[in-house]
Amino acid sequence: MPGPRRRTCVYFLELGGEDDRFARREAASAAADVRTVAPGIAIVRSIVPERVRGLAYTHRASELLGRTDATLESARALLETASIDRDGSVAVRATDIHGSSGVSAPAVERTLGQVLVDRGFSVDLDDPDHVLRAAFSVGEIDDVDDLEPILASDSRADSTSVPANDVGATARGEQVSICALGWLTAESVRDFGSRAPTDKPFFQPGSMDPLLARAVANIAGAHEGRRILDPMCGTGGVLVEAGLVGADVVGTDAQEKMVRGARQNLEHFLDDSAESPTGATRGSWHVGRGDATRLPLAEDSIDGVVFDAPYGRQSKIETHRLEDLVSGALSEARRVASRAVVVADRSWASEARAAGWELESAFERRVHRSLTRYVLVLE
Ligand SMILES: C[S@@+](CC[C@H](N)C(=O)[O-])C[C@H]1O[C@@H](n2cnc3c(N)ncnc32)[C@H](O)[C@@H]1O
Repeated sequence: MPGPRRRTCVYFLELGGEDDRFARREAASAAADVRTVAPGIAIVRSIVPERVRGLAYTHRASELLGRTDATLESARALLETASIDRDGSVAVRATDIHGSSGVSAPAVERTLGQVLVDRGFSVDLDDPDHVLRAAFSVGEIDDVDDLEPILASDSRADSTSVPANDVGATARGEQVSICALGWLTAESVRDFGSRAPTDKPFFQPGSMDPLLARAVANIAGAHEGRRILDPMCGTGGVLVEAGLVGADVVGTDAQEKMVRGARQNLEHFLDDSAESPTGATRGSWHVGRGDATRLPLAEDSIDGVVFDAPYGRQSKIETHRLEDLVSGALSEARRVASRAVVVADRSWASEARAAGWELESAFERRVHRSLTRYVLVLE
């Protein structure tokens, strides 16, 4: 199978959600050298457009025309002098991320649209040949971690290095004011609402919401040609999302009821010969009853493991103490794969290390007042 098309030049990403560090980690599955330069904005050196379409916490990738500070006047000055290598009709779409810059998006769209008209472009708001994105953000960078650079980028293998000042490295806590201008290249497909856990053919409390499920599937490396396992698949939330971006998915669960239910969900969302919304061919799927601590799978037969450990109070734990279950599942995951993403209501980092994993990154995501989810990325 030919590899995905990679587009190499500098792009900016408009990140979604509250946690830029997590969004950035997910984006590394679709882009190289992801660096946050302002709240909600990351700069990357290359992208795989098909994978950007499958991201949960990135909305768009645009080819960077330039960046300046977050005022309308600066954006106008930048656009007036930028070199533009395209022709056809245009539309300008602006966003003030988290309402942080106070810039008026309609005023930006009018002003920058006029600059483009003055430079000889026609404006077509309904069906433009090119969309110019203008993203404004003011605030403090707080997502720089000690595990820089993003070591696990899938894109790393074929990347070459770009001087840091080309992509604008930013230090922790730095106050920034940025407007990024660029040509829209890829947008993620925002169809997650159609897969709300309660609307699926089979629902159980504790099902993972599709945005988080997609993000952890992407971090585990889900895409065409990859095989992703969820050994405690429950309703199959992660498997559905991994399958929709083209991965072949394998699931086990200790409860027969869950196995039947996951099959129902996978059949519903993946058994369709049409292309998936992201453009990937839907992956194949297999779900069977099994114990996550004794998987019927050969060594290194899986590319990435994702599991959402039982929360004790919610999920039935078959025959094991929770600690033994998670430790056993981590060891089995290590035997069958070289990457895993674990979601849980506590950090299982020491159990992961004891099972032979290295912690690549860790995230805490607040679901509601009494539930924080920990996400560990293991290599
Ligand atoms: C938190 S739920 C997973 C939820 C799932 N991510 C979803 O979206 O529906 C944990 C699952 O682990 C399963 N489980 C518990 N012990 C297990 C074991 N020893 N082997 C495999 N699965 C087990 C439970 O039946 C439950 O479905």
